[in-house]
Formats: sequence, C-alpha cells, structure tokens
Amino acid sequence: MLSQSFLLSFLLCPLVLAVNPLLSEKAGTPPINRNSTQGDSSYRAPYFPILNWTQYENNPILGANQARGWESSYVYNPTAMVIDDMVVLIYRAQNSSLISTLGLAWSTDGYNFTRYTDPIFYPTESYENRGTEDPRLIRVNGTFYMTYTGYSDSDGVKLCMATSVDLLNWNKTGPVLPDIEHSKSGAILDEIQPDGTYHMHWGDDQLYLATSIDLIHWTMPTNNTYATSILEWEQALIESGPPPVKTRDGKWLKVYNGVASQTQGNYVKQQYSTGQMLIDPITFPYGPPVARLETPVLTPDTADEKQGQVNNVLFSEACVQFKGQWLMYFGEADTYLGVASAPVQP
Ligand SMILES: *[C@@H]1O[C@H](CO)[C@@H](O)[C@H](O)[C@H]1NC(C)=O
Ligand SMILES: *[C@@H]1O[C@H](CO)[C@@H](O)[C@H](O)[C@H]1NC(C)=O
Ligand SMILES: *[C@@H]1O[C@H](CO)[C@@H](O)[C@H](O)[C@H]1NC(C)=O
Ligand SMILES: *[C@@H]1O[C@H](CO)[C@@H](O)[C@H](O)[C@H]1NC(C)=O
Ligand SMILES: *[C@@H]1O[C@H](CO)[C@@H](O)[C@H](O)[C@H]1NC(C)=O
Ligand SMILES: *[C@@H]1O[C@H](CO)[C@@H](O)[C@H](O)[C@H]1NC(C)=O
Ligand SMILES: *[C@@H]1O[C@H](CO)[C@@H](O)[C@H](O)[C@H]1NC(C)=O
Repeated sequence: MLSQSFLLSFLLCPLVLAVNPLLSEKAGTPPINRNSTQGDSSYRAPYFPILNWTQYENNPILGANQARGWESSYVYNPTAMVIDDMVVLIYRAQNSSLISTLGLAWSTDGYNFTRYTDPIFYPTESYENRGTEDPRLIRVNGTFYMTYTGYSDSDGVKLCMATSVDLLNWNKTGPVLPDIEHSKSGAILDEIQPDGTYHMHWGDDQLYLATSIDLIHWTMPTNNTYATSILEWEQALIESGPPPVKTRDGKWLKVYNGVASQTQGNYVKQQYSTGQMLIDPITFPYGPPVARLETPVLTPDTADEKQGQVNNVLFSEACVQFKGQWLMYFGEADTYLGVASAPVQP
C-alpha cells in the first residue's frame, strides 16, 4: 500500500505542478500578456548550420484526441515559442470533416504537453470557411503576429495574418497577398531590416520575398523570387519552415521544407524533408540564400512519418531553444506531432 500510494503521488505530483501555477482564472490556459517573457533565459544564438538532430524516442508527442470533436482526426504542423519559461505550441487539428482549427498546448520540459480543451483559432471568415491551417508565430513589441493558411470555397488557399497579445483573443487582418491566386507558408524575420521593412519568405513551389512596414500590409518587389529548388531532395518544391533565427554573426538561419520529385538516392517521390539555409537580408535582400545544407537534417524515417494521412512527410514549422537544446517540432505524415533535439553550439 505504501509503495502504491507513494507511486500514485509520484505520478500525480508532476501533473499538478505542471498545470496549477499556469492556470489563469478564466480558462485554464497560461496567463500570457504583453509582459510575458520570450525566449530561453540562457539563450545562445546559433551559427549555421545546427547539426546533430535526434528524433525523440517517444514520438509522437501529440496526436488526435477522440474525446474532443475538433481534434478527433489528426494533430500536426505546430508553431512554437518559449514564453514565460514554457514551450507554447499552437498546432493544427482536424475534425472528422477534416476542417482545421488551431489548438494550444504548453510544456515545462518541451516533451510533455498540456492541451487546452477548446480550439483557440477557428474559421469565422469567408476566406477560411474550410479551415485555418499551418500557423507560424513571431512576437514584435509585445504583440504576436501569426501567419496561417486560410482555406475556403471562395478564395482557395491564401496566406493570412492575425494578431494577439495573449494567444487567446485574435484580430484577423485577412489575406496578406490578396491579389495572389495561391499563397501559403509565410515565415517572417522578427526584426526590421536596414531597408526599413520586415521581410517574409512565402510560397510552396519556390520561395518569394514580401516586405512590410507594419507586419500587416505586405507588398512584393517585382523581382521577388528569393530561392528556387536546387538539391536532389527538394526538386518538386521548397517551402518555409519556422520563422528564421538570427545567427551569432548577424545573418539568419532558415529552416525549410523540401519535396523530392522522384524516387532516387535516399529519397522517395513526394517525400517532405527538413533542411537549412543561411540567408543574408542585408547584403542579399532579394536572395538567393548564401548557403544551404546539401542534405536534409530530418527526413521521414519512422513508421508514423512513412504512413499516415499523407505518406512520407516530416514537415517542420517550429524551432526553439529551450533549457540548453534546440527543439524542432514537426508534423508526421499529416497525422501526428513529433519533436527532435539538437545541442546548442558552445
Ligand atoms: C505590465 O507591467 C507594467 C509595469 O510593471 C504594468 O503596469 C502593467 O499593468 C503590466 N501589464 C499586464 C498586462 O500585466
Ligand atoms: C555531432 O556529432 C558528432 C558525432 O557524434 C560529433 O563529433 C560532433 O562534435 C557533434 N557536433 C555538434 C555540433 O554537436
Ligand atoms: C468540423 O469543424 C467545422 C468548423 O468548426 C464545423 O463546421 C463542422 O461541423 C465540424 N465537423 C464535425 C463533423 O463536427
Ligand atoms: C514525460 O512524462 C512521462 C510520464 O510522466 C515520463 O515518463 C517521461 O520521462 C517524460 N518525458 C520527458 C522528456 O521528461
Ligand atoms: C485588436 O483590435 C482591437 C480593436 O480594433 C484593438 O483595440 C486591439 O488593440 C487589437 N489587438 C491586437 C493584438 O492587435
Ligand atoms: C516595434 O517598435 C519599434 C521601435 O519603436 C518600431 O520601429 C517598429 O515599427 C515596431 N514594429 C511594429 C510592427 O509595430
Ligand atoms: C530587385 O529590385 C530592387 C528594387 O527595384 C533592386 O534594387 C534590386 O537591385 C533588384 N535585385 C535584383 C537581383 O535584380
């Protein structure tokens, strides 16, 4: 009995500790506001590239939850940020009609996440009536700016923007490139560049540049093709991963996703893998990248990544430094949510 109750309290204790201090009175979510801290307290900027990624042995860390209709089919493609010493995830969830909404989860170790019961972001506008998908989050001057895909009967696939200060209440500002027929996957550098604008790289065939002075209104230079497919594993397309990270020497490390066009070498046709490029928005604002790794750092290797809603997909949208390591969060076969870690460079 003694050992049993000891075991019970041992099991319950971490849960209680993990959840209770974070409860806000309103809704059971972390009380995030303009004063919330961002980033790891001992953050150390990287050099390009960040190597030695290891998949977490207990992946997936999140999956469908039958108990909640909105996330009862699939859970994947998250964005992440370290806020108030927690990793906070905003992830894509699909219900049984495959409509996507966004859920919130938080963790004090980066692996074991507590989920909020309700979606924090869901279709309300005509340009997203078939789903709100694939979030990417930055924070500037205390405001969160989230790009996401609005999918609708009227407008197809459009890159959209929304802002918030607490991750619960959102202002939707609509499609960011309304005149473009098909747009998605916008990753923004979270600092104003010397040309006086914020830079974003978007697209899911090649990467295109768009610029903005307020992060809401975006324009494209006429010569906006920023980067094209070069390498064997990315011949079909390249697409932004997480928002780029500034390197220790003042350039930016951009994690991105690429798709193989045919089965050859180590890649199968339509395989999504994650690579890295080094970009320099000061010297080469219109591209191309200064360098890219010739081979991906993460590929769909596990059974959950090889077979699922869409086979052979490892799709990264989140990369944070937390408690002495880098954590990359990704979708697995558009079905599950996994994580990999890498050491912080000395
Ligand atoms: C943020 O901190 C300032 C200064 O301490 C305080 O006046 C303000 O009420 C705080 N805001 C929130 C939302 O907690
Ligand atoms: C990566 O791993 C290799 C082999 O284990 C090791 O030699 C190298 O120092 C590691 N690099 C980093 C940046 O940790
Ligand atoms: C899925 O979510 C959408 C949007 O919230 C909703 O309109 C639809 O009824 C849901 N489908 C099911 C089966 O619950
Ligand atoms: C996550 O929690 C489980 C169960 O409490 C534990 O076994 C596991 O070690 C934890 N994972 C990490 C990375 O701490
Ligand atoms: C959202 O819109 C309201 C009303 O226009 C405004 O007061 C608020 O500051 C906005 N919040 C954000 C985070 O943009
Ligand atoms: C953030 O604040 C800086 C400094 O005041 C300002 O230059 C910049 O325009 C602000 N960015 C946004 C998106 O409001
Ligand atoms: C792209 O256009 C800008 C603005 O017109 C110009 O300054 C720049 O030189 C052009 N870059 C290339 C590579 O053509």
